[in-house]
Amino acid sequence: MNILGIETSCDETAASIISDGQLISNIVYTQQIHKKYGGVVPELASQEHLNEILDVVDATLNQASLKLSDINGIAVTYGPGLMGSLLVGLNFAKAMSLSLKIPFLGTNHLEGHLFSNYIENQNITFPNICLLVSGGHTQIWLIKDYSTFELIGETTDDAAGEAFDKGAKILGLEYPGGPEIDKISKNGNVTFVNFPRPRVKNSPYSFSFSGLKTALLYYSQKTNQDEFQNNISDIAASYQEAILDCLFNALEKLAIDYPDVKDIYISGGVAANNRLRVKSKQFELDYRKNIILPKLEYCTDNAAMIAMAAYQKIINGQKSSYDLAPIPNLKL
Ligand code: KG4
Ligand code: ZN
Repeated sequence: MNILGIETSCDETAASIISDGQLISNIVYTQQIHKKYGGVVPELASQEHLNEILDVVDATLNQASLKLSDINGIAVTYGPGLMGSLLVGLNFAKAMSLSLKIPFLGTNHLEGHLFSNYIENQNITFPNICLLVSGGHTQIWLIKDYSTFELIGETTDDAAGEAFDKGAKILGLEYPGGPEIDKISKNGNVTFVNFPRPRVKNSPYSFSFSGLKTALLYYSQKTNQDEFQNNISDIAASYQEAILDCLFNALEKLAIDYPDVKDIYISGGVAANNRLRVKSKQFELDYRKNIILPKLEYCTDNAAMIAMAAYQKIINGQKSSYDLAPIPNLKL
């Protein structure tokens, strides 16, 4: 069984193939056009998906040494994401499905991020917890089995990735800000600025990052610009540490409140962060839990996770109808 995954929810045009449960190809084209605008421009994103999707699907077939006629089903993201971007992938999948007479299944991007943990990990134990930290979402899920998820906390304002992106803008760094802050913080002093670690009252699993971003803005406004630039790596490292501490504060509470859960997965773009990976090792030692992080290429948006989330469902006969429309604010 060869399942093709297609992902176009934001600014990555991606396609991937899972064959008999194993990932055999994975192509991601990250759109570069948005860098000069300091953020994703929705109209340009959908245009870029249109320009690239055929080549990306071709490349994934080549990597897998398969022909179009070898594909048995298609998994495609239908939300959440940008309307125009989702439309490109979904319509492409429908056209392929019609012409090849194979089923397609609209798949939730967030479910994809949860399944990104399983791409290379065969020994899944339930229940487990997944901290999903991306550009659009910061959520904690209690995962009871492959299809039963309970939301136990989420951000009340910005997502963690958004805090990285908006912070990077204030620091004068490029979009996307997460990898830039990650890089520039490498040798920075994490205690140089004592940024707040905001908490949401009476809600230990909720997050709030907008005040932190404002604290960085005020700090930049009151600091002499030469001094600011001279200490940029220390300031970035301190800001990054504050974001990560908010995440780990919640994980610490989880470790105590859910003693039966042994494995904590972290997925989404922010899971690629190097300092988060260092702090995860320390957390494992302190709390005797396993923290499992996907390989870097499965943290940020990709189609392998979409094919993974849909694989078993398509095998079991689930399919979408051709009137399925994109849902930009789709929930899990
Ligand atoms: O999961 P993702 O690719 O897309 C969404 O579904 O949103 O996540 C993108 C987010 C961006 O905010 C980006 O800045 C952040 O993930 N990100 C990182 C790193 N790499 C990507 N944040 C911190 N450190 C990184 N190394
Ligand atoms: Zn994503």
